[in-house]
Amino acid sequence: MKPDRLIAGLPGGVVLRTASPGDAGALCAAYVANREHLAPWEPRRPDDFFTVEGQAHRLGERLREYEGGRLVPWLLEADDGRVVGTITLSGIVLGPFCSAYLGYWTDADHQGRGLATAAVREVCGIAAREMGLHRVEAGTLTDNVRSQRVLERCGFELIGTAPRYLHIDGAWRDHRLFQRILHEGPPRP
Ligand SMILES: CC(C)(COP(=O)(O)OP(=O)(O)OC[C@H]1O[C@@H](n2cnc3c(N)ncnc32)[C@H](O)[C@@H]1OP(=O)(O)O)[C@@H](O)C(=O)NCCC(=O)NCCS
Repeated sequence: MKPDRLIAGLPGGVVLRTASPGDAGALCAAYVANREHLAPWEPRRPDDFFTVEGQAHRLGERLREYEGGRLVPWLLEADDGRVVGTITLSGIVLGPFCSAYLGYWTDADHQGRGLATAAVREVCGIAAREMGLHRVEAGTLTDNVRSQRVLERCGFELIGTAPRYLHIDGAWRDHRLFQRILHEGPPRP
């Protein structure tokens, strides 16, 4: 089942909600404000990624994947309407796998407040209860200790290190892969 605009409260009055077509402007502002903060941890972004038009195009593609049940794009929204992070389940596969990939970031001015931890916990709960997923996987750069702490605190276990796993900040980089088993029940029919 596809979660639909589920809203949950996170620390500091931040809400977790699914993205909608009107969010391109707020996403653009967030990515512009966090360009340097995110650069070491993300793929190199083309210049149009940092425009409202570029974000509208990307959001449109992601919302089509959402409609198809392959991805869920959540936003972390502060009480003033600013986007202060995103969290995404992608590559959603059902059947005997019932698995998805998890990705997230939080705003440079909101670090160390437990936001990422709360968002990952909430999304894992939705993945288990609403979506019937059995497993969530996440990969971090080997030196992304902060992100590894978030995953470990949320019950993820280390699978191992995948050499040259993702093209991040201009090079194929080794990643630590983690998974969390959400439940032991059989796949939903
Ligand atoms: C990784 C990231 C999502 C963490 O977000 P956050 O909202 O600050 O996370 P939380 O506040 O929930 O938890 C951060 C944890 O890291 C710890 N931490 C903070 N700075 C740290 C550092 N330099 N080294 C090790 N741990 C650190 C915090 O103390 C906290 O752990 P604790 O509660 O056990 O003390 C955020 O830093 C980020 O967006 N980074 C850039 C993008 C990124 O790396 N995304 C993840 C890709 S896998």
